[in-house]
Amino acid sequence: MNKLIEIINLKKHFKSGAQTLKVLDDLNFSVQKGEIIAVTGESGVGKSTLLSLIGGLDSVTAGEIRIREKDITRLGETELTQFRGDYIGFVFQNHFLLNEFTAYENILIPHLIRKRKLTRDTDRYILGLLDMVRLRERKDHKPGELSGGECQRIALLRALMNRPEIVIADEPTGNLDEKNSMLIFDLMRTLNRKFKVTFIIATHNQAVRKYSDDIYVLKQGKIFRKA
Ligand SMILES: Nc1ncnc2c1ncn2[C@@H]1O[C@H](COP(=O)(O)OP(=O)(O)OP(=O)(O)O)[C@@H](O)[C@H]1O
Ligand SMILES: [Mg+2]
Repeated sequence: MNKLIEIINLKKHFKSGAQTLKVLDDLNFSVQKGEIIAVTGESGVGKSTLLSLIGGLDSVTAGEIRIREKDITRLGETELTQFRGDYIGFVFQNHFLLNEFTAYENILIPHLIRKRKLTRDTDRYILGLLDMVRLRERKDHKPGELSGGECQRIALLRALMNRPEIVIADEPTGNLDEKNSMLIFDLMRTLNRKFKVTFIIATHNQAVRKYSDDIYVLKQGKIFRKA
């Protein structure tokens, strides 16, 4: 099977004064299409750094990040924006929903940003997503009228709006209790099965074990598969 993501000798160093912090150092890693991968490790080891590089949100110090066989570290800003829009969805610890828009509108926003029209198909897709989390009847509610867990489920649906191949989730359950964390992981598994979405999740939540295909640990600039 082809590798969806292949990371080769990746380095990310931060310079501060005379010191260099080698957060990622000759890291090699690959992900197959359709997998759910958890990235764990102590606070400050570089999980967010790795995820932001895979998502093309930051530039590497050295190395290659090949996604669908294309090295994204060589793309210019315009191509990179296009690439993100086509292939990547993001979820963060904070849901970052826009308060003045409804749940439905928040899910729709990535579609409108890409200057696409709201067609009957798009509407059906969004309502189908809302059905998956049993929030269709709450679609006209604004984030202030929804619970934290509900907001995070809407944020995860929003990440699916442009039908990405990869969803990058950085501590998606960091602000949630156990029950809502399970609902998020469960929803990821459902979306993974239904749409073949590949998930890369950075988390401290041990429960991810039950929902992921592989667990990795970041340590001293490198990544290891957890037995
Ligand atoms: N822009 C930056 N400039 C300098 N140092 C940075 C920068 N971004 C991150 N770092 C450092 O890189 C290291 C890795 O940070 P990162 O946020 O990736 O860790 P993390 O594993 O996600 O931690 P957490 O579990 O707390 O979220 C930390 O020591 C951090 O201070
Ligand atoms: Mg982090």
